Amino acid sequence: MNNLQDFRQQFRQLYGNEPRLFSAPGRVNLIGEHTDYNDGFVLPMAIDRRTVVAIAPRNDRLVRCLSTEFDDQIEFELSADLKPANDWANHVRGVAACLLRDEYNLRGADLLITSEVPLGAGLSSSAALEIAVGHGLLKVAEHLVDPIRLALAAQKAEHEFAGTQCGVMDQFIACLGQAGHALKIDCRTLEYEAVPVDLSEARVVIVNSMVKHELASSEYNLRRAECEEAVRRLAGHLPGIQSLRDVELEEFDQWADALPENIRRRANHVITENARTLAAVEALKLGQLSHFGKLMRASHESLREDYQVSCSELDLLVEIASRHSGVFGARMTGGGFGGCTVNLVKADQVENFISEITEAYEWVAKVKPECHVCQASGGVREESQ
Ligand code: GLA
Repeated sequence: MNNLQDFRQQFRQLYGNEPRLFSAPGRVNLIGEHTDYNDGFVLPMAIDRRTVVAIAPRNDRLVRCLSTEFDDQIEFELSADLKPANDWANHVRGVAACLLRDEYNLRGADLLITSEVPLGAGLSSSAALEIAVGHGLLKVAEHLVDPIRLALAAQKAEHEFAGTQCGVMDQFIACLGQAGHALKIDCRTLEYEAVPVDLSEARVVIVNSMVKHELASSEYNLRRAECEEAVRRLAGHLPGIQSLRDVELEEFDQWADALPENIRRRANHVITENARTLAAVEALKLGQLSHFGKLMRASHESLREDYQVSCSELDLLVEIASRHSGVFGARMTGGGFGGCTVNLVKADQVENFISEITEAYEWVAKVKPECHVCQASGGVREESQ
């Protein structure tokens, strides 16, 4: 991130003392969509776009928050009983409350926040904010940070303060991302494996449809409930299953017809997506990028047809990308209903890809997409600059 020294200076001018700086990354999920809250597998990578919080402890219980993106200053007193409010600082409030409920003592603090992660674009700007702030609050109160415990507290904050019953993927990768690697995460056991993303042949290009995913929260919670419904119904035939993770494709095929259509489609996506994710991890390890790309495309089809979380703009971006000879694969990434696609593009074709997709998308959608060529980056850290 550029200009951290200017940012530090801005903090000094606002609050009159010296801050520490912490940053956490946004993420792009390469494959494994809507599987995390089904105890399944995901393959996200942290991106080189970060949210930075400058923070200095106070000697009382007050938290004061300013952001370079919003005009209003928000203040609240630290308490485990904090409730959501209607303002931009809910993620800050939420992570503070959930850490307090997790029995961490925190100190009041002055905060200044800035971000390079586009808001509402499906790149997990909110997880980056929660993790940067949570890590900062823990550090200035002199705690050792357990990254998985922090990720789980931030996930709870999202449930209770943003109302999205999300899985743990976004907060997990914001904590534990590794430069040059994607993480295969087993969302049941929380075991993870760093898988190298070799950029000699290909680049990860994110294309923002510029459609904000406003429907996302209610539809997201509905999908989650439909998956739980699928488990309840299938458990009648497959005793002992706890989640869709436990259902093999052959078993599912045997009982699928007994399910209502929407429930059958949701379950079909999750069960096949888990298999695709495991296959994609192997393909990436072996450098089989064409195979990886086919799995990405199949993932998109399944999200569009069965999980029904895509939208016409995301489908258009994937269509345009898939017609380009330099593209191994393309799919929507994140929760859906807008936001971004992720594209695996031959290294020497990136410029051409970006200019073609920009022109073709703008022609039809009447809005210019934003393209980001991304590197796999590290998780939350203190910035010394
Ligand atoms: C959002 C959620 C994640 C995950 C994805 C879909 O980003 O925050 O937990 O469920 O959607 O894969």
